[in-house]
Amino acid sequence: MGGPNLLRSEAALTDLHGEQIIPIIQGARMAQGMPNIGLNNEDAGAVAAYIRSVIGSIGSQGRPPGEEQVLDIIVGDASRGQAYFAKHCASCHSVSSDLKGLATKYPDARQLQARWLAGGSAHAQPSSLPTVEITLPSGEKVAGGLVRIDDFLVTVKLSDGSERTIARRGAIPHVVVHDPLQAHRDMLPHYVDSDIHDVTAYLVTLK
Ligand code: HEC
Repeated sequence: MGGPNLLRSEAALTDLHGEQIIPIIQGARMAQGMPNIGLNNEDAGAVAAYIRSVIGSIGSQGRPPGEEQVLDIIVGDASRGQAYFAKHCASCHSVSSDLKGLATKYPDARQLQARWLAGGSAHAQPSSLPTVEITLPSGEKVAGGLVRIDDFLVTVKLSDGSERTIARRGAIPHVVVHDPLQAHRDMLPHYVDSDIHDVTAYLVTLK
């Protein structure tokens, strides 16, 4: 839609700590067609830091960052990562069974890190997709895979492959969602950077 190349943008190239980029993300260039993305200062600052990190790895002559500049993200302490794993992950995982050979499965450390943070893509294993059980006022129960849910509607995929959409009004009908990856989502806000570095440094040893 005509947005400028950020690898050549004066604002992006001269940004030191978000002072150029944050206002733009927050709507300073709306007249020029850049929407207000609606991020708070902290999130906009993180995006600015990311843009600076890409610019910081630009190849010579303004080429986009190339393979040869790949950053080494294995900067953590594997033994601290192992201790963290024992405390926070071992209730669901074992490095000698389900996560055996994980680093062989994901040889790229960044992919491996993204994978353990998210708990994997929701489409990887049918067993990790969310399910839902709905109890209608009549007492009838409808259960299956959760297709989507909001305050007004819930759509469930039934065992015969068909979908059924049911209206919601407050607590009626009674809806219980079971998401196997909920634990992964719940943990996300609790990691500090060193936890992430340490766990990744440990998991890359699981060859
Ligand atoms: C409450 C249970 C639970 C906890 C705690 C948990 N996980 Fe998971 N994790 C899951 C489930 C469920 C999946 C999806 C499994 C699947 O799709 O086969 C998953 C997927 C993963 C995957 C993807 C595996 C693959 O082969 O792609 C990795 C890696 C992972 N978890 C690492 C971790 C780490 C590291 C921790 C601790 C920081 C952790 N998990 C804590 C339940 C949990």
